[in-house]
Amino acid sequence: MAPIQENKELIMSTADMLQAHLELCHHSFAYVKSMALRAAIDLGIPGAIQSSGGAATLSGLASKAGIHPTKLSNLRRLLRVLTTSGILAATDDEPPADSETAVYTLTPVSRLLAGGGEGAEGSHNMTPLIGVIINPLAVAAHLSMSEWFTDERAAAMSLFEVAHGCTRWDKIKEDPTDGAVFNAGMVADSRIIMDALLRDDSDGGGEFLQGVNSLVDAGGGHGAIAVAIARSFPHVKCTVLDLAHVVAGAPPDANVKFVAGDMFEHIPPADAVLLKWILHCWKDEDCVKILRRCKEAIPTRDAGGKVIIIDMVVGSAAGSQESKEMQVLFDLFMMYIDGVEREEHEWSKIFTQAGFSDYKIKRVLGFRSIIEVYP
Ligand SMILES: C[S@@+](CC[C@H](N)C(=O)[O-])C[C@H]1O[C@@H](n2cnc3c(N)ncnc32)[C@H](O)[C@@H]1O
Repeated sequence: MAPIQENKELIMSTADMLQAHLELCHHSFAYVKSMALRAAIDLGIPGAIQSSGGAATLSGLASKAGIHPTKLSNLRRLLRVLTTSGILAATDDEPPADSETAVYTLTPVSRLLAGGGEGAEGSHNMTPLIGVIINPLAVAAHLSMSEWFTDERAAAMSLFEVAHGCTRWDKIKEDPTDGAVFNAGMVADSRIIMDALLRDDSDGGGEFLQGVNSLVDAGGGHGAIAVAIARSFPHVKCTVLDLAHVVAGAPPDANVKFVAGDMFEHIPPADAVLLKWILHCWKDEDCVKILRRCKEAIPTRDAGGKVIIIDMVVGSAAGSQESKEMQVLFDLFMMYIDGVEREEHEWSKIFTQAGFSDYKIKRVLGFRSIIEVYP
């Protein structure tokens, strides 16, 4: 039997035990914040604040969001989570249940949920992307994560397939409502990232397009990136390649050519192939196949050929705990379709395997990076 003294050393201090209890509860309740965000979006709260001139009271919001009169105090509780999380701001931290004194306003975070505001940001709205992330299909798949780790079929099936019986891409094809949600989410993200890349005030706005006269956005969805490039750089001939059912739903644009096809089979020729949020969806061997098709589509490095990748380089984001956590959470999220977020050495390995000679990480864009890969 161990001496009593040793056992005592294993016992946490009361302060440590309570701190651990607090931290475990905090982690367990993290999803409640996601659900609050989703509810606020579905109720149109950021938009309601914006359309009230940027500031709204509880009853003003209740009326705009169609809240049942018996749920006014519940709305206040939802808003309190949002203000505590920095998603909204309030003039009064602890407004009483039916307070008319508290005024809710947008923060920079919720300005990206309101849409329709002044300036370029007016066209930016993260709401559709959040609909892809806080999505019943994704949440249900993640709830079966532990089963998937030990499931006999796990080697051959993604978490999504185990939960839903088909791949993510098949679900989008079979379920037009889900497809519309997914494609709108991608458009929302692409508009923001392209604005960041093309703005004149950012270092080298559009620099990645220097010397590029034609570009194929492979897996380009509904073409938000190609439309943005064609608008800012009319000399760049832009083509979007995606699966037939995705291209069929894309809004036509006079300056962008949409091509239905499979990037594993063929990518139309161009000076540059862009891959945004493509390679993180696929295992290494699939990425190598896609990259080989890209290499066949572009000219030599001397003639300006390159592949432009917008994706995450794990470990590259600016040092805040938030961005570090964001990167590893996104990586785990992507596991649901057998995707992966890669560290630089993992990127380098697949570039070499696909026959490329060199690459450069050009810029960090929030939690993602822009990487150029040269034949
Ligand atoms: C995560 S989305 C990214 C969309 C877009 N690049 C963006 O970031 O907004 C992946 C895209 O790849 C497309 N895709 C999947 N498999 C494909 C294939 N075999 N050939 C072409 N596109 C494909 C999907 O339809 C989807 O539009």
